Amino acid sequence: MTNKIKYFIGNWKMFGDFRSFKIVLKIHQLYSRLLVSKNNNKIVLCVPNTLISIFANKIKSKFIKIGAQDCHYHEKFGPYTGKISANMLKNVGAEYIILGHSENRHDGDTNLQIKKKIESALKANLKVIFCVGETYKQKKNKKTFISIKKQILESIDKKFNFNNILIAYEPVWSIGSGRIPKSLELNQVIKFIKKESKKLFKMKKYPFVLYGGSVNDKNISIFSAITEIDGFLIGGASQTPKKFIDIIKNYYK
Ligand code: PGA
Repeated sequence: MTNKIKYFIGNWKMFGDFRSFKIVLKIHQLYSRLLVSKNNNKIVLCVPNTLISIFANKIKSKFIKIGAQDCHYHEKFGPYTGKISANMLKNVGAEYIILGHSENRHDGDTNLQIKKKIESALKANLKVIFCVGETYKQKKNKKTFISIKKQILESIDKKFNFNNILIAYEPVWSIGSGRIPKSLELNQVIKFIKKESKKLFKMKKYPFVLYGGSVNDKNISIFSAITEIDGFLIGGASQTPKKFIDIIKNYYK
Protein backbone atom coordinates (compact mmCIF):
# COMPACT_ATOMS: atom_id res chain seq x y z
CA MET A 1 0.00 0.00 0.00
CA THR A 2 3.03 2.28 0.34
CA ASN A 3 3.98 4.41 -2.64
CA LYS A 4 7.58 5.25 -3.44
CA ILE A 5 6.88 8.83 -4.44
CA LYS A 6 6.35 11.32 -1.61
CA TYR A 7 4.54 14.61 -2.04
CA PHE A 8 5.41 17.77 -0.14
CA ILE A 9 2.70 20.26 -0.99
CA GLY A 10 2.57 23.80 0.34
CA ASN A 11 -0.75 25.52 0.84
CA TRP A 12 -0.04 29.23 1.03
CA LYS A 13 -3.71 30.14 1.61
CA MET A 14 -4.40 33.91 1.35
CA PHE A 15 -0.79 34.99 1.84
CA GLY A 16 1.90 36.28 -0.47
CA ASP A 17 2.60 38.90 -3.09
CA PHE A 18 5.05 39.28 -5.99
CA ARG A 19 7.95 39.63 -3.59
CA SER A 20 7.19 36.17 -2.24
CA PHE A 21 8.85 34.73 -5.30
CA LYS A 22 12.04 34.85 -3.29
CA ILE A 23 10.51 32.17 -1.04
CA VAL A 24 10.03 29.91 -4.06
CA LEU A 25 13.60 30.52 -5.20
CA LYS A 26 14.97 29.82 -1.77
CA ILE A 27 13.03 26.57 -1.55
CA HIS A 28 14.50 25.61 -4.90
CA GLN A 29 18.04 26.44 -3.78
CA LEU A 30 17.80 24.62 -0.47
CA TYR A 31 16.15 21.62 -2.04
CA SER A 32 18.83 21.37 -4.74
CA ARG A 33 21.42 21.00 -2.00
CA LEU A 34 19.52 18.33 -0.07
CA LEU A 35 21.01 14.87 0.00
CA VAL A 36 17.81 12.99 -0.70
CA SER A 37 16.75 11.09 -3.77
CA LYS A 38 15.04 13.87 -5.68
CA ASN A 39 13.27 11.44 -7.97
CA ASN A 40 11.23 10.20 -5.06
CA ASN A 41 9.77 13.59 -4.17
CA LYS A 42 7.29 15.93 -5.74
CA ILE A 43 7.14 19.49 -4.46
CA VAL A 44 4.10 21.61 -5.23
CA LEU A 45 3.39 25.13 -4.01
CA CYS A 46 -0.29 26.05 -4.12
CA VAL A 47 -0.23 29.83 -4.16
CA PRO A 48 -2.92 32.52 -4.46
CA ASN A 49 -4.37 32.90 -7.97
CA THR A 50 -2.70 36.30 -8.36
CA LEU A 51 0.73 34.66 -8.24
CA ILE A 52 0.27 31.53 -10.33
CA SER A 53 1.15 33.01 -13.70
CA ILE A 54 4.20 34.95 -12.59
CA PHE A 55 5.59 32.14 -10.44
CA ALA A 56 4.95 29.44 -13.04
CA ASN A 57 6.72 31.54 -15.68
CA LYS A 58 9.64 32.50 -13.51
CA ILE A 59 10.48 29.31 -11.70
CA LYS A 60 12.76 27.29 -13.89
CA SER A 61 12.97 24.39 -11.50
CA LYS A 62 12.42 20.81 -12.47
CA PHE A 63 11.63 20.12 -8.83
CA ILE A 64 8.86 22.61 -8.08
CA LYS A 65 5.36 22.74 -9.55
CA ILE A 66 2.82 25.49 -9.00
CA GLY A 67 -0.76 24.80 -7.96
CA ALA A 68 -4.01 26.60 -7.15
CA GLN A 69 -6.20 26.34 -4.06
CA ASP A 70 -9.76 26.29 -5.35
CA CYS A 71 -11.86 26.96 -8.45
CA HIS A 72 -15.44 27.39 -9.56
CA TYR A 73 -17.15 24.22 -10.71
CA HIS A 74 -18.27 25.66 -14.04
CA GLU A 75 -15.92 24.36 -16.68
CA LYS A 76 -14.87 27.31 -18.77
CA PHE A 77 -16.17 30.87 -18.94
CA GLY A 78 -19.48 32.00 -17.45
CA PRO A 79 -21.38 34.71 -15.59
CA TYR A 80 -19.81 34.01 -12.18
CA THR A 81 -18.58 37.28 -10.73
CA GLY A 82 -15.33 36.96 -8.85
CA LYS A 83 -14.85 33.30 -9.72
CA ILE A 84 -12.23 31.47 -11.71
CA SER A 85 -12.45 28.17 -13.56
CA ALA A 86 -10.07 25.23 -13.50
CA ASN A 87 -9.38 25.79 -17.16
CA MET A 88 -8.33 29.40 -16.56
CA LEU A 89 -5.98 28.28 -13.80
CA LYS A 90 -4.45 25.63 -16.01
CA ASN A 91 -3.95 28.19 -18.77
CA VAL A 92 -1.84 30.44 -16.54
CA GLY A 93 0.44 27.63 -15.38
CA ALA A 94 -1.18 25.75 -12.50
CA GLU A 95 -0.57 22.01 -12.59
CA TYR A 96 -2.27 21.05 -9.34
CA ILE A 97 -5.30 22.24 -7.42
CA ILE A 98 -6.49 21.82 -3.85
CA LEU A 99 -10.23 21.09 -3.68
CA GLY A 100 -12.51 20.52 -0.72
CA HIS A 101 -10.26 22.19 1.83
CA SER A 102 -12.08 22.52 5.14
CA GLU A 103 -11.74 26.30 5.01
CA ASN A 104 -13.77 26.24 1.78
CA ARG A 105 -16.21 23.70 3.16
CA HIS A 106 -16.65 26.09 6.06
CA ASP A 107 -17.50 28.83 3.56
CA GLY A 108 -20.23 26.66 2.05
CA ASP A 109 -18.67 24.12 -0.29
CA THR A 110 -20.83 20.98 -0.34
CA ASN A 111 -19.72 17.48 -1.29
CA LEU A 112 -21.69 17.79 -4.52
CA GLN A 113 -20.08 21.10 -5.45
CA ILE A 114 -16.69 19.64 -4.69
CA LYS A 115 -17.49 16.72 -6.97
CA LYS A 116 -18.29 19.13 -9.81
CA LYS A 117 -15.08 21.05 -9.12
CA ILE A 118 -13.05 17.84 -9.23
CA GLU A 119 -14.70 16.92 -12.50
CA SER A 120 -13.89 20.24 -14.15
CA ALA A 121 -10.34 20.28 -12.74
CA LEU A 122 -9.68 16.82 -14.17
CA LYS A 123 -11.10 17.90 -17.52
CA ALA A 124 -8.71 20.86 -17.45
CA ASN A 125 -5.84 18.41 -16.89
CA LEU A 126 -5.06 19.55 -13.38
CA LYS A 127 -3.97 17.12 -10.71
CA VAL A 128 -6.42 17.28 -7.82
CA ILE A 129 -5.55 17.33 -4.14
CA PHE A 130 -8.90 16.36 -2.66
CA CYS A 131 -9.19 17.15 1.06
CA VAL A 132 -11.25 15.16 3.53
CA GLY A 133 -11.34 15.12 7.31
CA GLU A 134 -13.52 15.03 10.37
CA THR A 135 -14.36 17.89 12.71
CA TYR A 136 -13.49 17.69 16.38
CA LYS A 137 -17.12 16.97 17.22
CA GLN A 138 -17.23 14.09 14.75
CA LYS A 139 -14.03 12.72 16.24
CA LYS A 140 -15.42 12.92 19.78
CA ASN A 141 -18.58 11.14 18.65
CA LYS A 142 -16.52 8.41 16.97
CA LYS A 143 -17.76 9.47 13.55
CA THR A 144 -14.34 9.88 11.92
CA PHE A 145 -14.61 6.96 9.52
CA ILE A 146 -18.23 7.50 8.62
CA SER A 147 -17.79 11.20 7.91
CA ILE A 148 -14.71 10.64 5.74
CA LYS A 149 -16.46 7.87 3.82
CA LYS A 150 -19.41 10.18 3.15
CA GLN A 151 -17.11 12.92 1.85
CA ILE A 152 -15.40 10.46 -0.47
CA LEU A 153 -18.59 8.78 -1.66
CA GLU A 154 -20.33 12.05 -2.42
CA SER A 155 -17.42 13.77 -4.15
CA ILE A 156 -15.75 11.02 -6.15
CA ASP A 157 -17.17 9.33 -9.19
CA LYS A 158 -16.02 5.99 -10.47
CA LYS A 159 -15.46 7.48 -13.91
CA PHE A 160 -12.79 9.93 -12.61
CA ASN A 161 -9.17 9.44 -13.61
CA PHE A 162 -7.68 8.28 -10.32
CA ASN A 163 -4.14 8.74 -11.56
CA ASN A 164 -4.75 12.47 -11.22
CA ILE A 165 -6.33 12.51 -7.77
CA LEU A 166 -4.44 12.63 -4.49
CA ILE A 167 -6.48 12.44 -1.31
CA ALA A 168 -5.34 14.63 1.59
CA TYR A 169 -6.54 13.59 5.01
CA GLU A 170 -6.77 16.77 7.05
CA PRO A 171 -8.57 16.50 10.40
CA VAL A 172 -10.30 19.88 10.72
CA TRP A 173 -9.27 20.19 14.38
CA SER A 174 -5.63 19.78 13.44
CA ILE A 175 -5.38 22.54 10.83
CA GLY A 176 -3.40 25.49 12.17
CA SER A 177 -3.90 24.31 15.76
CA GLY A 178 -0.60 22.61 16.54
CA ARG A 179 -2.51 19.43 17.41
CA ILE A 180 -1.87 16.22 15.53
CA PRO A 181 -3.58 12.82 15.58
CA LYS A 182 -2.16 9.91 17.52
CA SER A 183 0.02 7.75 15.27
CA LEU A 184 -2.11 4.66 15.69
CA GLU A 185 -5.31 6.50 14.79
CA LEU A 186 -3.67 8.26 11.88
CA ASN A 187 -2.35 4.99 10.51
CA GLN A 188 -5.84 3.49 10.70
CA VAL A 189 -7.48 6.42 8.93
CA ILE A 190 -4.90 6.49 6.12
CA LYS A 191 -5.34 2.75 5.54
CA PHE A 192 -9.10 3.10 5.70
CA ILE A 193 -9.07 5.81 3.01
CA LYS A 194 -6.86 3.70 0.75
CA LYS A 195 -8.84 0.51 1.15
CA GLU A 196 -12.29 2.08 0.98
CA SER A 197 -11.51 4.19 -2.08
CA LYS A 198 -10.02 1.25 -3.92
CA LYS A 199 -13.01 -0.91 -3.09
CA LEU A 200 -15.74 1.70 -3.68
CA PHE A 201 -14.46 2.81 -7.06
CA LYS A 202 -12.80 -0.40 -8.20
CA MET A 203 -9.47 1.40 -8.54
CA LYS A 204 -6.64 -0.61 -10.02
CA LYS A 205 -4.24 0.45 -7.27
CA TYR A 206 -4.40 2.23 -3.93
CA PRO A 207 -4.71 6.00 -4.22
CA PHE A 208 -2.06 8.36 -2.89
CA VAL A 209 -3.13 9.57 0.54
CA LEU A 210 -1.41 12.55 2.12
CA TYR A 211 -1.68 13.94 5.62
CA GLY A 212 -2.20 17.62 6.44
CA GLY A 213 -2.66 19.55 9.68
CA SER A 214 0.06 21.28 11.73
CA VAL A 215 2.92 19.44 10.01
CA ASN A 216 6.26 21.00 10.92
CA ASP A 217 9.98 20.25 10.91
CA LYS A 218 9.78 18.83 14.45
CA ASN A 219 6.79 16.51 14.28
CA ILE A 220 7.57 15.19 10.79
CA SER A 221 9.60 12.35 12.32
CA ILE A 222 6.41 11.06 13.93
CA PHE A 223 4.71 11.00 10.54
CA SER A 224 7.64 9.48 8.69
CA ALA A 225 7.28 6.37 10.83
CA ILE A 226 3.87 5.83 9.21
CA THR A 227 4.98 4.59 5.83
CA GLU A 228 1.45 4.46 4.41
CA ILE A 229 1.41 8.27 4.28
CA ASP A 230 2.33 9.29 0.74
CA GLY A 231 3.12 12.90 1.48
CA PHE A 232 2.01 16.06 3.24
CA LEU A 233 -0.11 19.13 2.74
CA ILE A 234 1.63 21.87 4.64
CA GLY A 235 0.05 25.21 5.48
CA GLY A 236 1.84 27.49 7.95
CA ALA A 237 5.31 25.97 7.55
CA SER A 238 5.30 26.17 3.75
CA GLN A 239 6.09 29.86 3.54
CA THR A 240 9.31 29.67 5.47
CA PRO A 241 11.83 28.04 3.11
CA LYS A 242 14.03 26.60 5.83
CA LYS A 243 11.10 25.06 7.70
CA PHE A 244 9.63 23.61 4.52
CA ILE A 245 12.95 22.09 3.47
CA ASP A 246 13.67 20.86 7.00
CA ILE A 247 10.39 18.96 6.85
CA ILE A 248 11.70 17.10 3.80
CA LYS A 249 15.16 16.69 5.28
CA ASN A 250 13.91 15.39 8.61
CA TYR A 251 11.43 13.12 6.91
CA TYR A 252 14.36 11.09 5.59
CA LYS A 253 16.41 11.16 8.80
P1 PGA B 1 -1.43 23.91 8.64
O1 PGA B 1 -2.47 23.92 7.43
O2 PGA B 1 -0.22 23.12 8.18
O3 PGA B 1 -1.11 25.34 8.88
O4 PGA B 1 -2.10 23.24 9.79
C1 PGA B 1 -2.69 22.80 6.63
C2 PGA B 1 -3.73 23.10 5.59
O5 PGA B 1 -4.61 23.95 5.83
O6 PGA B 1 -3.73 22.51 4.51
